[in-house]
Amino acid sequence: MSNRLNTTPNDLRAFWMPFTANRQFKQNPRMLVGAKDMHFTASDGRKILDGTAGLWCVNAGHCRPKITEAIAQQAGELDYAPAFQMGHPKAFELANRLVDIAPDGMDHVLFTNSGSESVETALKVALAYHRVKGNGSRTRLIGRERGYHGVNFGGISVGGIVTNRKMFGTLLTGVDHMPHTHLPAQNAFTKGQPEHGGDIASELERIVTLHDASTIAAVIVEPVAGSTGVLIPPKGYLKKLREICTKHGILLIFDEVITGYGRLGSPFAAQHYDVMPDIITTAKGLTNGVIPMGAVFVTSEIHDAFMQGPEHMIEFFHGYTYSGNPIASAAALATLDTYKEEGLFTRAAELSPYWEEQLHSLKDCPHVIDIRNTGLIGAIELEPIAGEPTKRAFSAFLKAYDDGLLIRTTGDIIALSPPLIISKDQIDELFEKLRTVLKGIA
Ligand SMILES: Cc1ncc(COP(=O)(O)O)c(C=O)c1O
Repeated sequence: MSNRLNTTPNDLRAFWMPFTANRQFKQNPRMLVGAKDMHFTASDGRKILDGTAGLWCVNAGHCRPKITEAIAQQAGELDYAPAFQMGHPKAFELANRLVDIAPDGMDHVLFTNSGSESVETALKVALAYHRVKGNGSRTRLIGRERGYHGVNFGGISVGGIVTNRKMFGTLLTGVDHMPHTHLPAQNAFTKGQPEHGGDIASELERIVTLHDASTIAAVIVEPVAGSTGVLIPPKGYLKKLREICTKHGILLIFDEVITGYGRLGSPFAAQHYDVMPDIITTAKGLTNGVIPMGAVFVTSEIHDAFMQGPEHMIEFFHGYTYSGNPIASAAALATLDTYKEEGLFTRAAELSPYWEEQLHSLKDCPHVIDIRNTGLIGAIELEPIAGEPTKRAFSAFLKAYDDGLLIRTTGDIIALSPPLIISKDQIDELFEKLRTVLKGIA
């Protein structure tokens, strides 16, 4: 345990940590006490290279002055304003700024406090939209196997990761799932979008035939599935989903909680893939991960459908105490300024070829059975240890941390998504460290 415990509280029992092996962690804690730009500082003083932008959120790097100053200033000026029947200027300014960078037609924004809440909000908007349009029979929601849409009941219902679902009963009714698009036999070691699997989108037609379009409200997918271990959409797949949804009057929701705000080299994946959904969910990079906040984009067609009835009546019975919170809004505005000033919405596109080359140079390392990438995202899939799934990747995570690199693992997959400010030298360093890790684990 060495001096790692120097700044560690001596009783770790009270905090039941999220998505964490609590007993393992508390025996040998990994405490972060500082961060700047591309690095964390651990409690023993070591610098840890951030290969994951925190949790896919710190897109501009850590402790950026403009953002921290905006937060401090806002906290002293207007700390909180009621979110219902009241407003404050920064939330409106932020919504306008977001609409400006969003795909054309995404003209309205609802604010939330997390990706999970953005997903719940989007699903509720979709159901209510059909109802106000007189199509109240459209109540089914369609997700996808291996999808991750946060941890609330709507999100785990449409989500497709069994460990996140199996403990929690029957979940929402009326949900169905499309098959995932992972075809390792055909697509292993593909650079960018896989050639095979675009036709899997037509499985949605089968689901529509089974339930009838008149019962289906929305389809929700991550354009690039992240938490399941990075699944990149095969060529033609997203366009085909769009066509089927349009044909049947079904709303298409893109969950862009990780792809939003520059991860693929455009502000949003919808622009990158040139496929326009009806609703986009975001969070994470919206405030550079600094303050909890999410935003859900909807088209005017959806928004305007609600703007009817007596004007003193609330049009949509949904919202959070902290929707558009002043300090979060200030943080988001400063984040958008930082992204714009530093060209971070497009930096992933510039770096992507170099990133891809270095990532795929690990192909011959021990245990590696697949490598995939897009924008500034990479995944390295490892052969699981027989009878002990997830153990090999977890060992890689622990060794990488000891060697001064933060990676993220899910199952036996290593997922990488560094801050968009990463330099080429730091990309080299990241993959050198990872090469040593892969050679050093059983
Ligand atoms: C696609 C997607 N949706 C939703 C979420 C949930 O976001 P949060 O953890 O902020 O609730 C995540 C988190 O990783 C995500 O990747």
